[in-house]
Amino acid sequence: MLIYLNGKYLDYSQALLPVDERGLQFADGIYEVALVWGGQFVDLDRHLERLERSAQGIELDMPLSTSEIRGIAEELLRRESVKQAALYLQVTRGVAPRDHRFPAAAQPTVIAYLKDAPVDREALQHGVKAITEPDLRWLRCDIKSVSLLPNVLARQHAANRGVREAIQVRSGIGVTEGSATNIWMVHQGSIVTAPASNWILSGIVRSVVLELAKAEKLPVAERFASAEELMQMDEVFMTSTTSFVMPIVEIDGRQVGDGEPGPVTMRLQELYLERLDQIAHATLG
Ligand code: PDD
Repeated sequence: MLIYLNGKYLDYSQALLPVDERGLQFADGIYEVALVWGGQFVDLDRHLERLERSAQGIELDMPLSTSEIRGIAEELLRRESVKQAALYLQVTRGVAPRDHRFPAAAQPTVIAYLKDAPVDREALQHGVKAITEPDLRWLRCDIKSVSLLPNVLARQHAANRGVREAIQVRSGIGVTEGSATNIWMVHQGSIVTAPASNWILSGIVRSVVLELAKAEKLPVAERFASAEELMQMDEVFMTSTTSFVMPIVEIDGRQVGDGEPGPVTMRLQELYLERLDQIAHATLG
């Protein structure tokens, strides 16, 4: 595997960082995950815009412009020539002796690589199971920070129960999002998803699915549902760069609706997959 690290394209075994790298010491950094489909980047502009916003959110001066980062992504894709993958991008505040304050002179660390991202067609068709978990995160979940410990714990609790995702519920707020996905619910044909706010990471797939739902004239309410409402929904699904539009058919051991992926979910999934194929083909021609 090829790793871009601070200006060089290195073999995985050569891509090494010092122990006092601030990503390692303080999780003092931000990241993005973007899809490669049919050999093309999907919505890379939106991901790079969000990376820029995350950098502002942690008061980090980006060492590279958006077009320079795009250039790195394209160079990785040219060298690796993969058809389907996930681009992982990370920028941290760099290497400096351990001190909470921002280092005066450190150069931010930039990492980029392409990793496998197989599509789980079986799960897309039949759905996955989830649990609910208390949302233990900070007040800036809109920043795509590498500080992911609460998400890691929630996801591990889901794995311990043999299910795919943990749906986080914030005390006093309601259903926020999954450990690495946005959560959607459908009740009597109306779609509900948490509003873009400090309580969720506003997903790129979320923004696309909102556009697709609007074009289909499907009603969407961006509001927080309560944990009780979640359990009464006809359909629940989750979205992300690597899970697409994924039906959730069981929550906390109770079946969602009739226990099968619902029609609204499957229509949005179909539209989403069609859009991916359009992107792959449009840029090929
Ligand atoms: N996760 N919410 C959280 C907390 C996430 O980590 C993610 C993405 C999403 C969905 O965002 P998007 O639609 O832009 O992928 C929502 C990525 C894929 C990850 O950490 O691997």
